Amino acid sequence: MGYPASEWPEPIVPVQSLSNSGITEIPSKYIKPPIDRPSLDSFEINSETDLYIPVIDISPLINGSDHTDEAMHAISHACKEWGFFQVVNHGVAPDLVQKLRAAWREFFYLPMEAKKAYANDPKTYEGYGSRVGVDKEAILDWGDYFFLYLLPESTKNLNKWPELPPNLREITEEYGEKVMKLSKMLIKAISTSLGLDENYMLRAFGGDNIAGTLRINYYPKCPQPELTLGLSPHSDPGLITVLLADEHVKGCQVKKGDLWVDIKPKTGAFIVNIADQIQVLTNAIYKSVEHRVLANAESERFSFAFFCNPKGDMAIGSAPELVSPLSMPLYEPITFNEYRLFVRNKGPLGKSQVESLKAA
Ligand code: OGA
Ligand code: NI
Repeated sequence: MGYPASEWPEPIVPVQSLSNSGITEIPSKYIKPPIDRPSLDSFEINSETDLYIPVIDISPLINGSDHTDEAMHAISHACKEWGFFQVVNHGVAPDLVQKLRAAWREFFYLPMEAKKAYANDPKTYEGYGSRVGVDKEAILDWGDYFFLYLLPESTKNLNKWPELPPNLREITEEYGEKVMKLSKMLIKAISTSLGLDENYMLRAFGGDNIAGTLRINYYPKCPQPELTLGLSPHSDPGLITVLLADEHVKGCQVKKGDLWVDIKPKTGAFIVNIADQIQVLTNAIYKSVEHRVLANAESERFSFAFFCNPKGDMAIGSAPELVSPLSMPLYEPITFNEYRLFVRNKGPLGKSQVESLKAA
């Protein structure tokens, strides 16, 4: 699938600096074609139809209690119906979460020069950035981010992490460890819910080499949110994503049939979604789901997406246990490294990437 591009196709303009400049009209580079623009009245549609992603209390799984049936059933149902759910009572300390939010807010409020010292490139994406994809013609999204590799240890490069605020590195490392533990527990539950051994998926995706990366998203205020998006429709490439959404400002939407459904995060919850590699391994019994983020004129928004990914160099295809003579393997096996390259060069493109793996 080619090589990673080594440079951006044009100079990077942080969205934060556009937003802070006080412009009242967004540059044409951010204006989506009419068909891709959000309909901002969708909030109302949802409250009328009462369509919400499931909220699951996972305390029985965390506590190793005998009463896990209900939580397991809810996860299995959510994976089939939505590919998205919220988890509460997940065991990650609220205090750690608050410190993480505060540290990264402080980072994004540093002077632009301090942030640009960490400017990223499309080879690894690690660092401070404002675009995904290297297509020069692409219409850009209204958001900045910081991307970093957390786990396994061998992928972590603390020198590329912000030095300020002083507690940012330590807090982010601790958060990564806790959320990785949670992710593995969820993957075990997902594995069991399909009738597989609880460790089947963890093994199939690389065991101790399962990786964790973190994308801290910052969506500055946007003067014309009806013309653009904070993040274009995409499915996540890896196994699962554990999202810590903004406490106060909604904006993330999930595609359900033809509707874009708002996610309304519960206080203290994480939002979990199935990503492309689970779709491949389960031969599409569980599917990754398209989601996007709206821009907002009144409020800026922060979110933290923890991506749990397979080991990079193993070919991943459909599990033989989940393929029957009636359901042939749907996807050509490829490694996650190859797959991610494709995503990194093209940027967010709905579900076309995982669809492109379909066997002829
Ligand atoms: C992502 C993502 C959602 C959000 O970073 O992949 O989907 O609410 N983020 O920021
Ligand atoms: Ni995503």
